[in-house]
Amino acid sequence: MNKVTVIGAGNVGATVAECVARKDMVKEVLLIDIKEGLSEGKALDIAESAPIHLFDTVVKGVTNNYDATADSDICVITSGVPRRPGMSRDDLLGINAKIVRTVTESFVAQSPNAIIIVISNPLDVMTYVAHETSGFPSSRVFGMAGVLDTARFRAFISMELGASVKDIQALLMGGHGDTMVPLPRYTSVGGIPLTELLPKDRIEEIVNRTKSGGGEIVQLMGTSAWYAPGGAAAEMVEAIVKDSGRVLPCAACPSGEYGLSNLFIGLPVRLGRSGIEEIITVDLNEAEQSLLDTSATHVRSNFEALRRVLSQTGP
Ligand code: NAI
Ligand code: 2OP
Repeated sequence: MNKVTVIGAGNVGATVAECVARKDMVKEVLLIDIKEGLSEGKALDIAESAPIHLFDTVVKGVTNNYDATADSDICVITSGVPRRPGMSRDDLLGINAKIVRTVTESFVAQSPNAIIIVISNPLDVMTYVAHETSGFPSSRVFGMAGVLDTARFRAFISMELGASVKDIQALLMGGHGDTMVPLPRYTSVGGIPLTELLPKDRIEEIVNRTKSGGGEIVQLMGTSAWYAPGGAAAEMVEAIVKDSGRVLPCAACPSGEYGLSNLFIGLPVRLGRSGIEEIITVDLNEAEQSLLDTSATHVRSNFEALRRVLSQTGP
């Protein structure tokens, strides 16, 4: 694989571009944004760091010129607006859905065989929009959230135990938001189940902090995170480029797995050169399945909101 396009050169998009470039695994990373000069400037800045970080990936930037995206192997969509004061969730949904639809249309016209990773929020619904617009199979359109959310979960466990993040494995499912479902029973430190290392109440506190991890950053900075989200997307890109078969949580479209279908929601998948190669099913107990069902209901309510907003505002 040679070329990765990142749409949106804001905080997250530029970080994705930098993280992918630093992995030195593709020939070219292209940043594209509607804001004049932004992509060009950020791409040049990243390119100028190549002699320091020692990568050969060429990093380019363009303003809204989709001809330049032609023949991309992977596209990461980060374009969108953040929620501003006075803006309802539905307002945000409508605006970002139109942005994601427009950029997806322009991108797929130039790269009909690419794999699309969506980051724009609200994540599960925007992934659906990109999937519908592209006409691609859902194995080639999926969302980044679970890698970020499990990274937060693992970071908080590491802070609590003083254990290396390298030894912490975790599983998390559900929508990207307050209803996400971290799964302590499937989380381990050096192979030891987390449930044997920490009491229930401490695990619950860490689970709750993970669920509100995005909001914690917004409260501190007044805008959302980008280092961990950018790194998370680059990890997914790497799994695809290297055809590694990594098992990562992604917003995927199940066909009956976990009793779910007709939506995008966070589930463990195996990623390889063709995108999602398998949605992996594990046994959930009654309480875990119930939390996942609640999360799915929440995600579906966002889908309903999308339909409502689009029927009011038109295409
Ligand atoms: P940002 O505001 O820094 O960047 C967004 C960029 O999109 C801007 O540069 C803007 O000019 C560009 N843009 C807007 N319309 C465009 C269009 N039609 N074509 C091309 N570019 C366009 O925002 P940031 O922090 O980079 O966040 C981006 C998105 O990612 C937001 O929706 C945010 O909520 C989401 N996000 C999702 C995460 C996840 O886990 N899925 C984690 C962090 C952020
Ligand atoms: C995050 O979780 C806001 O989705 C963004 O940081």
